[in-house]
Amino acid sequence: QGEESSDKKVLKMATSADFPPFESHNEKGDIVGFDVDLANKIADKLGYQLEIQDMKFDGLVGALQSGRVDMVMSGMSTTEKRRKNVDFSKQYHRSGEMFIYKKDADIKKLEDLKGKTV
Ligand code: ARG
Repeated sequence: QGEESSDKKVLKMATSADFPPFESHNEKGDIVGFDVDLANKIADKLGYQLEIQDMKFDGLVGALQSGRVDMVMSGMSTTEKRRKNVDFSKQYHRSGEMFIYKKDADIKKLEDLKGKTV
C-alpha cells in the first residue's frame, strides 16, 4: 500500500485483515481480498489512491468516528447498535454460494460423495 508516490489524494480505509476471503494477509504480508479489490475500484473511480489501515475489528467504528479514516470495509454487517454511530452503504455482498452435484447422482449431503468420485 502506497509504495509508489503520487500526487493523488488519499482515501483512507480501515479494515481488520483477519476475515478471508474479504480481507486477510497473503504470504507477502499484503492485505488482500474482496473488500480490498472493491475499495481499490472505488478509489480508482474517484481518482484517489487507496491507503489501508489494518486494526482490530472492535476499533473500526471508533477510527471512523474520530476521523482517522474515511471509510471502513471489513465484511461488516449492519446492526442497530452500529447504525447509531455510523452510516452504512447499500449491501454490496450477499452470500448464496452452494456446492453443486451432477444430476441424478443422488447426493444429498457431502458424505454421499464418498465412493462416488471420478
Ligand atoms: N459480518 C460480521 C460482523 O459484521 C463479521 C465481520 C468480521 N470482519 C472482520 N474483518 N473480522 O460482525
